[in-house]
Amino acid sequence: MTETQGSNPSRRALIGWGGAGLALGAAVAGGAVAVAQSGEDADPVADGMGGAVEFHGAHQAGIATPVQDRLHFAAFDVKTDDREAFVQLLKDWTEAARRMTAGKPVGEGAYGGLAEAPPDDTGEALGLKPSRLTLTIGFGPSLFDKFGLKGQRPAALVDLPKFPGDNLERSRTGGDLCVQACADDPQVAVHAIRNLARIGFGKVAVRWSQLGFGKTSSTTPGAQTPRNLFGFKDGTRNIAGTETGRLDEHVWVGAGDGPAWMTGGSYLVARRIRMNIETWDRTSLQEQEDVFGRDKREGAPVGKAKEHDEPFLKAMKPDAHVRLAHPDSNGGITILRRGYSFTDGTDGLGRLDAGLFFLAYQRDVRKGFIPLQRKLAAHDALNEYIQHVGSAVFAVPPGVRDSGDWWGRTLFSKEA
Ligand code: HEM
Repeated sequence: MTETQGSNPSRRALIGWGGAGLALGAAVAGGAVAVAQSGEDADPVADGMGGAVEFHGAHQAGIATPVQDRLHFAAFDVKTDDREAFVQLLKDWTEAARRMTAGKPVGEGAYGGLAEAPPDDTGEALGLKPSRLTLTIGFGPSLFDKFGLKGQRPAALVDLPKFPGDNLERSRTGGDLCVQACADDPQVAVHAIRNLARIGFGKVAVRWSQLGFGKTSSTTPGAQTPRNLFGFKDGTRNIAGTETGRLDEHVWVGAGDGPAWMTGGSYLVARRIRMNIETWDRTSLQEQEDVFGRDKREGAPVGKAKEHDEPFLKAMKPDAHVRLAHPDSNGGITILRRGYSFTDGTDGLGRLDAGLFFLAYQRDVRKGFIPLQRKLAAHDALNEYIQHVGSAVFAVPPGVRDSGDWWGRTLFSKEA
């Protein structure tokens, strides 16, 4: 496997991923090649690969993968008109992602290279385990207005409608691209996004980003279901990562769905949902349980004893969240939820700016999130306690097949 997939790896090794070492231009032009100490050789993490999630596969990791504890999610705006430069960035990002998910530093590493150039890797993940890091890329609707991609925009990649109660902030909405970084160590996730942003300098810029500190869903039903900031078990009835039949039916884009470049991919909806935890905390236990249609201790549906007992929807209040969101109330609609809790300081009114960064994967947004959210936005008892303040939708391309493949190849290259 080559160290870098870029067109001119030795030059990049010299000048750093940010292209910041311009002063070295003369040396580079003169053909000087520095033999920088490889961060890989120097890094003890490379010996013990425990906790690494396979980067290659038919589907991108980070969707059906057992949910990690932490999230750093970033949406990017494209800053270049140069299609070739953008494609090169996707290749460079892929190579960096391949290395970071394996617990290796980016490029030539964080130290040991040319003293005159910034190191390829920023260094804060040195010595840390791969921590099950996954990096998942998505393409937003606005990307298809660029680079001659108009005809390639999937019909399923619709702009989300305005739902009742939405109070979206522009600065937390949209994006040409996104990268979802999930890991069990927050520093590993942040390092990954930071280094991708750095590699993208001049070609992309971070539009908004979101940290998540606690998973609010599970794709491993055998494991303990995590709780959200309202204190309820969340993710009880989700698609499991091992349920390949349900994943094919509800999450992965099928061969006939179109366009061909999306086969094996998925669609991601991200919503920053503020939770009014102070109001919730003054609400009676009975009201809290009525809102969800499940009890707080066990997470059992109304009238049942155990969390995983089949819900009897009619026993729940008509506006109970679970009753409204359940597939039986929605012609079978099923999405894969993968959200995280967040707290981002205060709102300036003496309350925590806290909530759920909701992430949902589905085969078609028009048959998944949109009809579901239309119903919830109109009727859900939960609406008294939450507000959607950020929103984005992305086409998540299929997985990177092998060490010669790259993120977005099926969209940008004619090659099959
Ligand atoms: C802050 C906002 C939200 C909170 C606190 C929340 C919380 C919960 C909880 C506690 C459950 C029950 C446990 C489970 O099966 O996971 C649940 C179920 C569910 N939620 Fe939410 N949820 C929120 C927003 C949403 C949104 C925006 C959607 C989709 C548009 C959604 C879709 C679902 C679905 C599909 C289920 C499973 C229903 C079933 O099959 O029984 N939720 N949610």
